[in-house]
Amino acid sequence: MILTLTSNIMKALILYSGRDGQTLSIASYVASKLQDRLCCEVIDLLEAENVDLSQYQQVMIGASIRYGHFHSALDKFVRHHAEQLNQMPSAFFSVNLTARKPEKRSLQTNVYTRKFLLASPWQPKQCMVFAGALRYPRYRWFDRIMIQFIMYITGGETDSNKEVEYTDWQQVECFAQKFSQIKYEKQPKFVTFTPLA
Ligand SMILES: Cc1cc2nc3c(=O)[nH]c(=O)nc-3n(C[C@H](O)[C@H](O)[C@H](O)COP(=O)(O)O)c2cc1C
Repeated sequence: MILTLTSNIMKALILYSGRDGQTLSIASYVASKLQDRLCCEVIDLLEAENVDLSQYQQVMIGASIRYGHFHSALDKFVRHHAEQLNQMPSAFFSVNLTARKPEKRSLQTNVYTRKFLLASPWQPKQCMVFAGALRYPRYRWFDRIMIQFIMYITGGETDSNKEVEYTDWQQVECFAQKFSQIKYEKQPKFVTFTPLA
């Protein structure tokens, strides 16, 4: 009875910013892993301008990299909502191909993520870097050539017929588990009910 009430009340928002579907896949996977504990809504960051964060108890934002940058909508959203975001349990994940190399998958070694977190007025409680996907057949020719060149100079896959998914789904699952736990730090009254789950 108490658990049902809890899952009805706790709402989490997962915002994603991506172009070719991998960030959405990760956001959806996180939501699917949380569905027995949280009511998750997955929304495109480009459509989240007027979202009311007070309707949610937790928020997660995921964004991919394109030509060295996150979409400008990420910065805009974060700057606009920084105060509110900092007051709630929140998480951030980035998605990029540099992170296909495990040594470039930490907050310190992934340059895009490190730069973002250093400059961001929002300090998420939990952060992660995920390797994205390489999907040559889906890219426009210019992007295909550019990515192929980058892959060539960084020792990656250059066969333009290939689609390679580098995302470590176990890493995503761990991230989802941790996200489901940060709410207990913020709302200790629910700690009492955890052993019944
Ligand atoms: C045109 C283009 C540019 C990209 N630029 C970068 C980049 O600068 N650095 C990087 O690590 N990954 C880069 N990537 C890889 C993407 O971040 C990766 O494919 C990711 O999975 C895309 O996520 P999405 O499908 O949600 O957009 C690029 C991909 C494309 C198609």
